[in-house]
Amino acid sequence: MTVFKTIALIPAAGMGKRMGASINKQYLQLAGMPIVARTIAVFEHSPLIDAIYLVIPPEEIAYCQEHVVEAYGFRKIAAIVPGGVERQNSVLNGLNAMQDQLSADDVVLIHDGVRPLVNGNMLRESITTASCHDGAVAAVPVKDTIKTVQDGIINDTPRRENLWQAQTPQSFRFGIIHAAHQSAEADGFSATDDASLIERSGGEVHIIRGDYRNIKITTPEDLILAELFLAAMEREQKQC
Ligand code: C5P
Repeated sequence: MTVFKTIALIPAAGMGKRMGASINKQYLQLAGMPIVARTIAVFEHSPLIDAIYLVIPPEEIAYCQEHVVEAYGFRKIAAIVPGGVERQNSVLNGLNAMQDQLSADDVVLIHDGVRPLVNGNMLRESITTASCHDGAVAAVPVKDTIKTVQDGIINDTPRRENLWQAQTPQSFRFGIIHAAHQSAEADGFSATDDASLIERSGGEVHIIRGDYRNIKITTPEDLILAELFLAAMEREQKQC
């Protein structure tokens, strides 16, 4: 029986070592609220999302339950699932945890826990595109020229007009993405995003409009940028 229709899966089980902080980067405050709580809030408040599965390092589950889920009164959290060694393992754990609740055509939006500046329009476009294609990836055109480098020497300069920077959400029908993750694990194939696992078997994943402000907060300067972007977004909302 299908209980849910559109599910958010938020992998937040990284250790955030690049931030250099003493706590996991996702609990650092962004304008007075933990980063991961801001991310969850976007999905909690979207009428398009039925439930949220959160993936957290096993040793942080109790902390997250108390200081994020209960502290902010989130009601859509269906489960807090223990994460794995790599992001891909964490996402598969989340997909496995929800499998009894979903049918193959239900849509799963996979969204990084440290990308709090996602907006409702992106969620809408992502869900619509994923419902009728093999997947939807939020992305923006790259602004810089990108080089591929080996041993300190440039070996290629791909044409910039073909290059897009992939963000999240990345959305898929459940049956497609669960099968892709299971077969990647069986084959020992690893990738840094979910769409790659569909692309490798020839699936047609479409781009949707991302936003240059939808950054992944990875290093200390990202947090400064996120504060500025958030303030600008709040000003824009007040003007509407
Ligand atoms: O490591 P990366 O920057 O790609 O992380 C993107 C998202 O994946 C983060 O929200 C992080 O918490 C999550 N992640 C995870 N499990 C891991 C590694 C990363 O859920 N083992």
